[in-house]
Amino acid sequence: MEEQGQITHPSGELDPDVQRELLARARSAAQRAYVPYSNFPVGAAGLASDGSIYDGSNIENASFSLTICAERSAIVAAVFAGAREIVAIAVSAPKMPLTSPCGACRQVLNEFRPANQDMMVILDDESAGEPVRLESLLPRAFGPRNLE
Ligand code: THU
Repeated sequence: MEEQGQITHPSGELDPDVQRELLARARSAAQRAYVPYSNFPVGAAGLASDGSIYDGSNIENASFSLTICAERSAIVAAVFAGAREIVAIAVSAPKMPLTSPCGACRQVLNEFRPANQDMMVILDDESAGEPVRLESLLPRAFGPRNLE
């Protein structure tokens, strides 16, 4: 897709300016978390293949298992807005640097991994961010292509 040339290098690595922006958005999203039970805010910012960014935070529930994680909140916002390919997602948990998506979120992220490149997950290390590939977080994933 033409826009991807502007936001990712051929290797799939993110442009440093875009990575900085995504991390800033994830940190800001964490401030809007609803976390009365865990008091562990998390923010996420997903980058769609057209360059749009969608934010989310964790939103907890008195029925604990109904809590939605920040990553899934961001994915829901992106997909509802029409995005279908998420090139990268930044995750920020202010209380715990390098917080990484839970297993359920890894599977949901995989659903929107671009067809021709991996999704980059940017972990907040309180510096420039640590990029990891979704493939390394969820190897040999089951996804939409398995049902074709
Ligand atoms: N949480 C996220 O939102 N994303 C993660 O990557 C890890 C965990 C949330 C779920 C819950 O609201 C709180 O963090 C503690 O588990």
